[in-house]
Amino acid sequence: MSNIKDIEDNVSVEISQAKSLEDLQKIKIKELGKKGRISSLMKSLSKVSNEEKKALGKSYNELRINVLKAFELKEQELKELVILDRIKNDKLDVTLSVRPGSNNDEGKIHPISRTIDTVIDIFSNFNFTVETGPDIENDFNNFTALNIPEDHPARQDHDTFYLKNKNEEDRKLLRTHTSPVQIRTMIDTSPPIRIIAPGRTFRCDDDATHSPMFHQIEGLVIDKNINMGHLKGLIRSFCEEFFEVSDLPIRFRPSYFPFTEPSAEMDIAYIKKDNVLKFGEGDDWLEILGCGMVNPVVLENCKIDPSKYQGFAFGMGIERLSMLKYGITDIRSFYESDFRWINHYGFSPMNLTSSTGL
Ligand code: PHE
Repeated sequence: MSNIKDIEDNVSVEISQAKSLEDLQKIKIKELGKKGRISSLMKSLSKVSNEEKKALGKSYNELRINVLKAFELKEQELKELVILDRIKNDKLDVTLSVRPGSNNDEGKIHPISRTIDTVIDIFSNFNFTVETGPDIENDFNNFTALNIPEDHPARQDHDTFYLKNKNEEDRKLLRTHTSPVQIRTMIDTSPPIRIIAPGRTFRCDDDATHSPMFHQIEGLVIDKNINMGHLKGLIRSFCEEFFEVSDLPIRFRPSYFPFTEPSAEMDIAYIKKDNVLKFGEGDDWLEILGCGMVNPVVLENCKIDPSKYQGFAFGMGIERLSMLKYGITDIRSFYESDFRWINHYGFSPMNLTSSTGL
């Protein structure tokens, strides 16, 4: 029996001295392998009487189990050391390029982000700067200052999400358009103003062409001697760049917005060929944006003297622009986080072209 105890102690010492998983494996083979000490002990059982076999067999088995456990513990300890060592010494080279063929793992730029970037790009060439405002607005910035008072019928056109407010006076809501950024900018800065404001907007509406959350981009120019001609010229140049068509036929239709006077909606000409929209041809018209000369009442609300300054504003839906440019038919697909969809319609961050080549 003392033989067994000696073996156990001896193996324990060997195990504790193992410096690596390879060392440990060698010891394991030496002790537990076919020709190992413990296997030899097991084999020797065939030479003893049945009486002895019972008692010896039990203790040999216990020895085997104890030794196996000791190996397991040490193996665990050495594996952890390997991991710690890698954490300490391995360096991640984030500048390495993506492995060829691992295209599926490459992130894609969402068409909404891509459209916002493109619009910003075009307007920055026209000397516009970008302004942003919060998604949660107050009633004044979203409605009242934009000449939409409490009892104005236009309020009903905006299916507004109101927040539960303690204070009725200072009612908060999810902005229904990006136009409150006009108000914030006119109150905070003085003319000349030349901004675009992209962002999220919210209306209680949900079908194939409406989503309760969508994106708009707002434009505002305030300066001396600004007229509708400037608005038309700017919007034409923008559309030609965005839709990549020169001499794009456009038309302005009279419309109504409380915050612009006169107001218009702008359409571009298109034709549908083989189920694909082609812009700049044909005699069908597609609405692109709402616009107009800033209503003097709005200027006054923002403490800007309408006898000195005029300006124009426009607002357009980002989803609509993306759908038209990239041939996307259901607005809801933008927000479904479907990898197949984003792999098809998304844009590679590396070469800025989509997998469809658009
Ligand atoms: N805010 C308007 C809308 O959401 C768009 C618009 C912006 C119209 C600026 C005119 C001027 O429909």
